[in-house]
Amino acid sequence: MYKARAYSAASATSPLASTTIPRRDPTEHDLQIEILFCGICHSDLHQVRNEWNEVMPTVYPCVTGHEIVGRVTRVGSAVTKFKTGDLAAVGCMVDSDGTCPECRAGFEQFCANVVLTYNFPDKHLGGITYGGYSDSIVVDQRFVLRVPSNLNLAGAAPLLCAGITTYSPMRRAGVSKGKKVGVVGLGGLGHMGVKFGDALGAHVVVFTTSPSKKQDALRLGADEVVISKNADEMQKHAGSFDFILDAVSAEHDINAYINLLRRDGNLTLVGAPPRPMAVSAFGLIMGRHSLSGSMIGGIAETQEMLDFCGRHNLTADVEVIPIQKVNEAFDRMLKSDVKYRFSIDMASLKSE
Ligand SMILES: NC(=O)c1ccc[n+]([C@@H]2O[C@H](COP(=O)([O-])OP(=O)(O)OC[C@H]3O[C@@H](n4cnc5c(N)ncnc54)[C@H](OP(=O)(O)O)[C@@H]3O)[C@@H](O)[C@H]2O)c1
Ligand SMILES: [Zn+2]
Ligand SMILES: [Zn+2]
Repeated sequence: MYKARAYSAASATSPLASTTIPRRDPTEHDLQIEILFCGICHSDLHQVRNEWNEVMPTVYPCVTGHEIVGRVTRVGSAVTKFKTGDLAAVGCMVDSDGTCPECRAGFEQFCANVVLTYNFPDKHLGGITYGGYSDSIVVDQRFVLRVPSNLNLAGAAPLLCAGITTYSPMRRAGVSKGKKVGVVGLGGLGHMGVKFGDALGAHVVVFTTSPSKKQDALRLGADEVVISKNADEMQKHAGSFDFILDAVSAEHDINAYINLLRRDGNLTLVGAPPRPMAVSAFGLIMGRHSLSGSMIGGIAETQEMLDFCGRHNLTADVEVIPIQKVNEAFDRMLKSDVKYRFSIDMASLKSE
């Protein structure tokens, strides 16, 4: 065991602050990774502030961060996938049983024994897992991804959660040329959804509550932008979407979007507002619309997404910050003031 530097929260109402945490020495299948960048996902904020209390209560101290890129510094004796000095990435999961039907089908995220990167029981050290707001992490090689060498690392980090969470449902829905696709909420996830929708050739319409994001949405690859508070603008798109990806972090009226689907159209929720939302039966039965959810993606699909990003030279638009600004970043995220993902430069942790 060794000590790593990190930023942790002591309670739901405490700011994140500098600390040290235990990490295991790499076992034979593990890699130790020096973390270079870690993205800030809205899930980190939900978790730190215990907003998901009813589903996954937070255990304190809490170290979040699951959009990790770094460099391998130590490898266990049985590691074959990586060597010291390689670039490496870790997303939302660090372990699963590897044997159940979900794991065997490549859906590790749905394994009953999945271990998420933070706030999950740590089989090695006891206590809970600690995430990427830290200078290093130790992970089984099965859960470590390769980063294409042409990608900017600060911008690549958010692919590990925001990227896979939007790529996976879009691929499953068959997003491609000739399809009309909506993306609701232009935040970290939403802006990746726009980039993937555009790269896959679809006609992409962004729904935003922030009129100031309109030009950015077009630059990111949207073909149209709708200010969702404007009922007339919304009505123009009634019954026209094949697929809508809803990436909003707070309560909102999803029926307004379900009504924009064409026959057999699907709305997939990836946003995870803490409280239940009301759904109108009529919005679904009229037009045979469907409502689904999606959670990140499996390891093989995450690698597929990273390789896709490498081929398309696609990364998140990031504002790089030192870790000392993480609390400010959380507050700005709550005001939808992120363009379009914060990426923590972990070199800043060395000065603590
Ligand atoms: N399913 C999964 O596997 C998964 C993975 C990662 C994250 N998530 C969840 O996805 C959600 C989004 O995460 P994120 O990191 O992209 O967050 P984010 O960067 O904060 O973006 C959320 C966006 O939602 C819109 N929004 C915020 N409050 C709103 C409100 N009251 N009404 C309508 N729109 C509102 C804003 O976009 P506009 O300014 O454009 O309106 C905001 O930029 C979070 O709940 C997160 O926990 C789920
Ligand atoms: Zn996330
Ligand atoms: Zn499993």
